[in-house]
Amino acid sequence: MKILITGGAGYIASHTNVELLSKNHELILVDNFCNSTPESIKRVEEISGKKVKFYEADLREIDALEKVFEAENDISAVIHFAALKAVGESVEKPLLYYENNISGSLNLYKCMVKYGVKNFVFSSSATVYGDPDQIPVKETAPVRATNPYGHTKAMMEQILLDAAKAHGWNVVILRYFNPVGAHESGRIGEDPEYPNNLLPFVSQVAAGIRDKVTVFGDDWETPDGTGVRDYIHVTDLAKAHVSALEKLVNDKGTFIYNIGTGRGYSVLEMIEAFSKACGHPVPYRIGPRRAGDVATVLADPSKAEKELGWKAQLELEEMVNSAWKWQSLNPKGYKT
Ligand code: NAD
Ligand code: WQD
Repeated sequence: MKILITGGAGYIASHTNVELLSKNHELILVDNFCNSTPESIKRVEEISGKKVKFYEADLREIDALEKVFEAENDISAVIHFAALKAVGESVEKPLLYYENNISGSLNLYKCMVKYGVKNFVFSSSATVYGDPDQIPVKETAPVRATNPYGHTKAMMEQILLDAAKAHGWNVVILRYFNPVGAHESGRIGEDPEYPNNLLPFVSQVAAGIRDKVTVFGDDWETPDGTGVRDYIHVTDLAKAHVSALEKLVNDKGTFIYNIGTGRGYSVLEMIEAFSKACGHPVPYRIGPRRAGDVATVLADPSKAEKELGWKAQLELEEMVNSAWKWQSLNPKGYKT
């Protein structure tokens, strides 16, 4: 299949591209490099031994996007990764988030209508559930995001479902829980300028780039008092996109799936596992709770298993080992 990948140079897209190329799909990537570099694309090609086609374009510029659809006139499906994703930044700069995530998506949806593309996979997030009433979270839980980033994801889902109904699109929405880890080769991985999430931060502390991890509260209602999350290996997550595309080929309609393991780990368990992976204790201190955090978020991934035939395979050890391999082989990320 010829697939357009927005945000195609980013963290999750890079791993997904490797899986898609291994299934012989033809990939057309679009990215403006606001949070990535062309180096990740080069490495995906090296790992896969296959070429991709690439356009540097900003989704907010519809003319640039139309040129891509014009040039690639037989696109079968779109996987839409491109978005800004930092929760804290979205609180400080909500308009930037609405403009980038919503306007960018609207332009993409408009191009799909104009060029008759009807199959779509969307990168959504557990963030749309906010502070869920029931754990593990099912897809039927209410959507009530609590920050501008989460609102953009919930809105993009809604616009997409409305457009799908009007234009007869087939859509899979994947709500990722907490993606972590890197490709087994250590050649591609997460390369944040400043890490917003736990594991990249732990990884940089382990590498001596930062002093210590601050654990955001040890008085949560969890077994060891620290926050519990459903961490999922990025390679498992990448494979969920391959399954989602297969679903679109075989079944017509709109589908929403949680993509997690269903198993949770606390912050202290993550630090301990990482200490084992890197061979020395990762220093940390207990700090105050972070605004907006919740005690526990876990997926119920059974719908994805039943309907997509997808299930996470990789364990915590593989998540932290691969993250450490990527960190130690690329101390400066893709700048190495
Ligand atoms: P990422 O920042 O590595 O990838 C996003 C890519 O989109 C980047 O390469 C960036 O340059 C590009 N991009 C952003 N705005 C663009 C625009 N206007 N035009 C063109 N390109 C643009 O992030 P990621 O972690 O790979 O996330 C991918 C998707 O998954 C995002 O939609 C994100 O919201 C979602 N998601 C991520 C997580 C996570 O923890 N990483 C969790 C849930 C959902
Ligand atoms: C995990 C746990 C923190 C950093 C976020 C987004 C969500 C999704 C995934 C995009 C929590 C604790 C963290 C640190 C810590 N992204 N922590 N010290 O908050 O579950 O989810 O990323 O869609 O939308 O909200 O992930 O990695 O930030 O935190 O103690 O330095 O680690 O309190 O318990 P989170 P996270």
